[in-house]
Amino acid sequence: MRNIALITGASSGIGKALATIHAKTGGDLIIVARSKDKLDALKEDLEEKYGCEVKVIVKDLTQPNAPKEIFETILEEKIAINYLINNAGFGGRGKFHERDWHDDHNMIQLNIVALTALCRYFLPRFVDRNEGRILNVSSTASLMAGPMQAVYFATKAYVTSFSNAIAEELHDTNVTVTALLPGATDTGFAKTADMDKTALFKEAFSAEEVAQTGYDAMLAGELEVLAGVSFAQKAMMKAVPLTPKKILLKQVRKMQEVD
Ligand SMILES: NC(=O)c1ccc[n+]([C@@H]2O[C@H](COP(=O)([O-])OP(=O)(O)OC[C@H]3O[C@@H](n4cnc5c(N)ncnc54)[C@H](OP(=O)(O)O)[C@@H]3O)[C@@H](O)[C@H]2O)c1
Repeated sequence: MRNIALITGASSGIGKALATIHAKTGGDLIIVARSKDKLDALKEDLEEKYGCEVKVIVKDLTQPNAPKEIFETILEEKIAINYLINNAGFGGRGKFHERDWHDDHNMIQLNIVALTALCRYFLPRFVDRNEGRILNVSSTASLMAGPMQAVYFATKAYVTSFSNAIAEELHDTNVTVTALLPGATDTGFAKTADMDKTALFKEAFSAEEVAQTGYDAMLAGELEVLAGVSFAQKAMMKAVPLTPKKILLKQVRKMQEVD
């Protein structure tokens, strides 16, 4: 295998689009998710269309040992990855005290713990080789607190903060860490998060467009990039630090509500 990208959550949405973009460049892939059938179908499709090599790892990343098992599998096969793309993640709507704690616990495990663990396992190898790129899929949700999606927004605040911080720690190496901050994107995410009937998702951007922006930013070694955000939303993001917190919280709550 050569020019290898390890992509979590590659069975659908932004992750699948990232895998396709990487395959088109001629790179090989290790694709991770729970849905074996979808990963196998993607492997067959990408190998046939682009002549690349795709390895499938079926793993539930909410399981505490999953990141270590992925790392050890790759180590055993003496594969050196070039790109680590932590994309798998999910959200969930509702008042925090009424939501199923098991779901929120799994969200923290996937969005935060698995992403951090995979960075921790692979980064020392990137630093030893003085090459490698990490793309962590965060969200515009990381830029504010999110009433009605309190845990999800907080997990993404962690992802952006953590990614920015380790990017700076690596300033004297050729290893880069990029945070991708998508806005509403047309994938399976909205349905899983119970957000598909909100105003926010009426004008969602395509997964392909968002993935391309993230992939290009990763190659360029950018610190972070917004994607799938309208002009009006961009203006709102810029105003976040200037908006009184109570007003902002009310605005965000209303955006999560169903008509
Ligand atoms: N869509 C949006 O509007 C939006 C906006 C901002 C940020 N994001 C972020 O973008 C990323 C990708 O989401 P998406 O929009 O492409 O949604 P998606 O279509 O639902 O894709 C989520 C991916 O994560 C995988 N996944 C979920 N739970 C997993 C688990 N326990 N273990 C391993 N893999 C798991 C899913 O595969 P399996 O089900 O096969 O496991 C799937 O491949 C997420 O981090 C999300 O937070 C999305």
